[in-house]
Amino acid sequence: MKIFIDSADILEIKQAYEWGVADGVTTNPSLIKMAVEKRVGAGEKISISSYLKEILKVASGTPVSIEVTEKTGEGMVEEGKKLFKMFNSVAENVNIKIPVNPALEDADSTHFDGIKAVKELSNSDIPVNCTLVFTPEQALLAAKAGAAFVSPFAGRIDDYIRKQNNIEFGKSDYFPQDGFEKDGLLLEDNGIVSGIDLVAQCVEILENYDLEAEVIAASLRNTRQVREAALVGAHIATIPFTVIADMLKHYKTFEGMKAFIADIVPDYANLE
Ligand code: G3P
Repeated sequence: MKIFIDSADILEIKQAYEWGVADGVTTNPSLIKMAVEKRVGAGEKISISSYLKEILKVASGTPVSIEVTEKTGEGMVEEGKKLFKMFNSVAENVNIKIPVNPALEDADSTHFDGIKAVKELSNSDIPVNCTLVFTPEQALLAAKAGAAFVSPFAGRIDDYIRKQNNIEFGKSDYFPQDGFEKDGLLLEDNGIVSGIDLVAQCVEILENYDLEAEVIAASLRNTRQVREAALVGAHIATIPFTVIADMLKHYKTFEGMKAFIADIVPDYANLE
């Protein structure tokens, strides 16, 4: 499984690349806001355009997602082309993030412009990461429309299932892959019992039909979810830096390290 870093924080991105574990970067407007506010808060003057260029250079040779801000089909296509033109020349690694259904009025409204933009940009040889995917059907349509990547949001489906059922939770709490029972009932959202179940169904459907899009397991909140994403065959997991760091930790590693250090005899430490 490839690992993307889900961050717009240049220091985090650099660190993940220095460790040799990052195969790409995903950003979104919220991540860019957070990263830029952090730099501005530290007294820096910053232009988002030069900041994005810095990210693209660090990630050179691997894909970086940049999301559109427009909501109409025409607007998203125009902006997607503009972003690609502005930024792809930096390191030839840009893909454009398009929401699968950018409806803002109400959740039930159907906004076909997302899927149209996926098709039009993909047809213009601009790789698209189709984002905010919450059903395998959305993933199937995005893949058929030509998206290079589809991004099911695992953690947010877990949040949604818990909220709908009045279950309190913390953002990084583990949610079982096989679902959560309450009062003897398995909780679900239209047949999806967990975020990882959503990822697994997206992968299975795309692979059933040899569709080229790669599934990016997104909105991952803890290390166990990353493991499960890998076990269900996600092609890519995009992971926040803190979770990548957590993947390196275990109490027994720490304890074992202390014991080994205590046992180093002088001769061994000073081999000649
Ligand atoms: O890649 C999508 C991701 O940034 C959303 O994560 O934790 O805000 O649901 P989260």
